[in-house]
Amino acid sequence: MAGKWSWVFCLAVCAISCSGANADIKFSIPVGRLFTYELMRETFQNDFQPLSVLTGILYNDPMVFKCNLQYSPDLPEWLRLTQRHPYDNAFLYGAPAAAGKSIIEIYAINKRTFETTKEKLIIQANAETLLPYQAEFFLQLREVEKVLPPGVQDEIKRDLQKVWKSTELEIVNITNALDRGGRVPLPLAGHYEGVYVKVGSEQYFSECLLKILTPDQQRQCQGGARGRAPGGCYYCNVPSNCITWCKTQLFDFSSPGPTAPPPTMGSGILEEGGEFDPPESPPARDFLPDYLVTVIVTLILAIVLCALLAYIMCCRREGVEKRNAKTSEIQLYHHHTIHGNGDELRSMAGGRGVAPPLSTLPMFNFRTGERMPPWRSDSSSIPLILAQHEPAIDPLPR
Ligand SMILES: *[C@@H]1O[C@H](CO)[C@@H](O)[C@H](O)[C@H]1NC(C)=O
Repeated sequence: MAGKWSWVFCLAVCAISCSGANADIKFSIPVGRLFTYELMRETFQNDFQPLSVLTGILYNDPMVFKCNLQYSPDLPEWLRLTQRHPYDNAFLYGAPAAAGKSIIEIYAINKRTFETTKEKLIIQANAETLLPYQAEFFLQLREVEKVLPPGVQDEIKRDLQKVWKSTELEIVNITNALDRGGRVPLPLAGHYEGVYVKVGSEQYFSECLLKILTPDQQRQCQGGARGRAPGGCYYCNVPSNCITWCKTQLFDFSSPGPTAPPPTMGSGILEEGGEFDPPESPPARDFLPDYLVTVIVTLILAIVLCALLAYIMCCRREGVEKRNAKTSEIQLYHHHTIHGNGDELRSMAGGRGVAPPLSTLPMFNFRTGERMPPWRSDSSSIPLILAQHEPAIDPLPR
C-alpha cells in the first residue's frame, strides 16, 4: 500500500515539475494600443513551492519582480513595470510604437527564501493603422496600478464611451502622472498620483469633447478654478474615475500634416570635374635652432655643472692633517680616548680571554715604566674632562 502511494506521489511530482517547466508566454499585439500583463504572485508562488498542492501548506511570500529585454539591462522604451508593494501583483504595461518582437525576461525574487524564478514573455507587435481621433484624459484620483486591471480599464472605458458618444473606443495608452513630471503626493488619504488615459476611435469627437476647445471653457480653466464638465457632459459613475476636464487634450491624426518633400534622387554617379589636384605639401621647416637650444645648451650646462662639482669634491678637500692642526691637542686626546675605549669594549664583547682594557691602566705602567699613549710628554697631568679643575687621574694600582 505504501509503495503504491509513493508511486502516486512521484507521478504527481513529475507532472507538476513538467507543467512548471517554464513554457514561454506569447502575445501578439497591435502597435499603438495598450498592452497590459499582470504578473500574478500566485503562479510564481507555485514555481517556488511546487509541492504545496500536495503538502497542503500554502504560502504567501513577499515577492519583487525584475524585468528586462533579453540581452539588455532594461525594458524596451515603451514597456514599463510597476509594483506597489511586495504583497501586490505587478504589471507590465505600455503601448508599442513600432512593429517588432521583444523577448522579455521576468525574474521573481522571493523575499522570504531569497529564491528566484524566471519566466519569458514574447511580445510580437504587429503593424496597425493609427486611430485617427485620440483624446487624453487625466484621472486625478487614481494610481496606475489601480487602473491597469482589465475590469477597471473597462469601467473607465464605459464612462468615456458616454463622453465620446461612441462604443468604438480603444485605450491607446496609460501613463503614470509621475512619469510626466507629476509630483509624489502627500501620504494622506485622498491624495493620489494621477493617471493619464489616452483613448482613440475611428469616430469624430463628440460635441462634449469639442466643447473643451471653446473659449468659454478655456477661460474657466485659466482662472484656476477646477474646470467643471461642460454643460450636460458629466458622465462619471465612480468618483475616482472622474476626469479632470481642464487637462483633457484632443489629437486629430485624420489629416496627415504636410509631409516634407522627398529628397531628389541623383543618378548615383558623380559629375565629371576635371583632374584630381592633390594639395601641396607644406613648406620645409628648419629645426636646427630648436635642436641647438633643446639639446646642445642643456648638454653644455650639464657639463659645466659636472666640472664645478668635480672641482669642489676633488680639489678642495683639506684633509685630516689640517683638521688635526686646527684642533687643540687636549680635545684631540679626549676624542681619541673615547674612540679607543669604544673599540676596546667592542673587542672585549667578542670573547673572555682578552687582555684587560687599557682604559683601566694608568697612563704609564709604574712597574715597567712603559708610557702609554704618546699624546703629550706630561700625559699624567691631562684631565679627562676639561671643565673640571682636578688633578690628573690617579694612577690605579694594579
Ligand atoms: C505612451 O505614453 C508614454 C508615456 O507618456 C510615451 O512615452 C509613449 O510614447 C506613449 N505611447 C504611444 C504609442 O503613444
